Amino acid sequence: MAILEVYAYPDDRLRNPAAEVTEFDESLGQLVDDLFETLYVTNSIGLCAQQTPDQRAVLVIDVSSDKSAPQHFVNPEILSASAPGLVEETCLSVPDYKASVWRKTKLRVRAQNRTGDTFEKDLSGMEAVCLQHEMDHLQGKLFVDRLSWWRRWRFRQKRAA
Ligand code: NI
Repeated sequence: MAILEVYAYPDDRLRNPAAEVTEFDESLGQLVDDLFETLYVTNSIGLCAQQTPDQRAVLVIDVSSDKSAPQHFVNPEILSASAPGLVEETCLSVPDYKASVWRKTKLRVRAQNRTGDTFEKDLSGMEAVCLQHEMDHLQGKLFVDRLSWWRRWRFRQKRAA
C-alpha cells in the first residue's frame, strides 16, 4: 500500500481524461488499494486515479463516517440519473474551498470491479453525488467548472491573489 500524490488545482494534469482500463491485473488491484489508503489518510469521501499520477479510469468512494462502506468502480458509466439537488462539495484537488453544485441524487451505474466483473448498482444521496464528482475527474473536469460564471470568476480571483 502507498499514499499517492494528489494533484492540486490549477495543475494541468487534472485536465487529462482518464484511460479506459483493459488489464485487470495485480497492478490494478494495487491501484485500488492505494486509492483507498490515500482516501482514508486524507479523510475524504471520494478519490479518482486521475487526480494522481495514475491515469486509469478507476475511482473509490466511502461516504460513511467509520470507513465501513468502501466501493470501487472501474470504467464506470451512468445509465440513468434523476432527482436533482443542490449539494455542497469539496475536493482534495481544490483545497480550502467549498461550493454548492447541482447534482442528481439518484443514479444507476454500470462499472467493473478490480477483477473485471461487470456490475450494476443504484446509488442515492451523498453516494450518488460523490460518484458524479469523481466521474467528472475522469473527464478532466472539476466541480468548480460547474459553478455559475460569476462564482467561477470569484473563485479564480481568490486563487490568483
Ligand atoms: Ni474531487
